[in-house]
Amino acid sequence: LNRWLNQDLQQTTDDGTVTLFHPDLEQSFHSIEGAKFEAHELYVKRSGFVEKVKSSPTRVLDVGLGLSYNASASIAAWLETEDPKSVWIDSLEIDSELVECYGKQEIPWTKGWASNWLTGIQSLQTSRLNEKGPALTCSLLHPLSKATLIWQVYLCDGSTLDFSHLGGAYDFVWQDPFSPDKNPELWSKEWFTKIKNVMNDDGVLVTYSVARLVKENLSSAGWTYQKMETPGRKRHWLKASPR
Ligand SMILES: C[S@@+](CC[C@H](N)C(=O)[O-])C[C@H]1O[C@@H](n2cnc3c(N)ncnc32)[C@H](O)[C@@H]1O
Repeated sequence: LNRWLNQDLQQTTDDGTVTLFHPDLEQSFHSIEGAKFEAHELYVKRSGFVEKVKSSPTRVLDVGLGLSYNASASIAAWLETEDPKSVWIDSLEIDSELVECYGKQEIPWTKGWASNWLTGIQSLQTSRLNEKGPALTCSLLHPLSKATLIWQVYLCDGSTLDFSHLGGAYDFVWQDPFSPDKNPELWSKEWFTKIKNVMNDDGVLVTYSVARLVKENLSSAGWTYQKMETPGRKRHWLKASPR
């Protein structure tokens, strides 16, 4: 049985949305403050994503698909924008059992999600054409603007991924692996250098972590960053620019 479908691992966060507890890492996928809250407030709103999609085609690198809150919040925001341009989202996920949850049965943690949040995951199709291709893809047409949204999920270790097989030049990075002590390979100077090379100059990375190591590694990879005050209990989030 797929362990992520196990009810016992579910936890309800303060905004009523459900996250999972990772038994091996002894860490939850989201802060208790709210899975949906963080996806929407930080990744979608504070990054500037909503303004960007109104003005130009936009590419997002979603690091750590997890329960797809960040990707689904992005898709919902795009659907709710009146006249958006096209959007392309590449999600990276190392956990094959988690990827298997999509494109199949009803996904337990999405119970109660609004329909715009579900549109993306309900349209995901299994698509392993070759070893380097995405494991899942989804293609949506915006009901008003007729712009397209392409979402691709790569089953891979992001730290060893060869980005030359992907479309490149991202406008946003949703940097959301587990904490630097649990997933050090995705918080290292090498990682931040690697993704800086596939960013547009005016691109934006946002993350929940303001850990000293994260700031130091961003700086030594040539990023500039600023702390952002949050509207919640955790005091700060981080926003970084590759210039
Ligand atoms: C905190 S969760 C992400 C939550 C997710 N962004 C969401 O919106 O629900 C971190 C995710 O990163 C994945 N991950 C960890 N190490 C990874 C790696 N080296 N490459 C790709 N994904 C990784 C984990 O399996 C986990 O699903």
